[in-house]
Amino acid sequence: MKEKIEALRARFEAELSAAKTSETLEKLRVGYLGKKGSVTELLKGLKDVGAEEKRELGQHINALKKQVEERLAAQAEALKTAEENLLIASAEQYDVTLPVNEAQGSYHPITVVQRQLEEIFTSMGFTVEDYPEIVTDYECFEAVNVPKDHPARDMQDTFWLDNGQLLKTQTSAAQNAIMKKYGAPLRAIFPGRCFRNEATDASHENTFFQMEGMMIDKNISISNLIYFMKTMLSQVFERDIQVRLRPGFFPFVEPGFELDISCLICGGEGCPTCKHSGWLELCPCGMIHPNVLREGGIDPEEYTGFAFGLGLTRLVMMKYGVKDIRDLNSGNLKALSQFKHE
Ligand code: DAH
Repeated sequence: MKEKIEALRARFEAELSAAKTSETLEKLRVGYLGKKGSVTELLKGLKDVGAEEKRELGQHINALKKQVEERLAAQAEALKTAEENLLIASAEQYDVTLPVNEAQGSYHPITVVQRQLEEIFTSMGFTVEDYPEIVTDYECFEAVNVPKDHPARDMQDTFWLDNGQLLKTQTSAAQNAIMKKYGAPLRAIFPGRCFRNEATDASHENTFFQMEGMMIDKNISISNLIYFMKTMLSQVFERDIQVRLRPGFFPFVEPGFELDISCLICGGEGCPTCKHSGWLELCPCGMIHPNVLREGGIDPEEYTGFAFGLGLTRLVMMKYGVKDIRDLNSGNLKALSQFKHE
């Protein structure tokens, strides 16, 4: 019996060193230690030997059993590590220290200019306000001096919701709430997405951005308006910009103006871009109408203010020479990726 034990030990060692996968290891375990395994059979055979021998043989067989168990466990561990290493070696490798991929995303040019404007205005003491895109008729029109039957409504056809609300046609829709929130004095800008129900072409879109601004205090005059607009535009275009005001009608301001800037292409000499006038129309503005101040809870006898409704999308087109407004909403990476260095 002793020889049998030693032969089994030798056979096990040989088979173990040939086992290269966890499945063969498992087969070995069952073959030696399972219910009908060779070691188990040996143990069962003990019942046929005498008491004296039983003790000695029992010790030998148990030592073999322990050896088989330990050797199997060690081999299983070694195989597991080897298999994991193989998996790691075959997996895709990433080098996190490499420079970023060229195909990285970038900020949309409107976002870039909007943030630039926010920085300029906050440096001049303005707060930046966020406002919903879905508003009421009151917010968008009535509160800014455009009553229900006012003909100025014809200029801004929009998208109405079943519940009577609408997609805001102008950032002026936030004026009333902001006046009520802060009272006077007040300096705020409020950029936002606006919507109008109109046919699209190279210079018209149903979805575009504006940036509204308001400054209300004692003794605010048109010269304050001109100063802030000139400072802001010179910073945006990184050069000295000349501005001029022409009369313009908007129900929420009195007097109302169209603010023009000196042509960016010819510098005022006259060229096809500015239709040989030397000026480009950029920003409607004016002195806030007393009705609008009053509706916002501010006494027009005590305070005055200016407001402007900068066409943010239009400004971006001018700054970067974008010819077709639709490129900005297209999601076309060929068009938009040009701005990735901004
Ligand atoms: N809300 C006007 C529009 O979209 C633009 C505008 C004009 C805004 C004059 C103003 C302003 O604040 O004073 O056509």
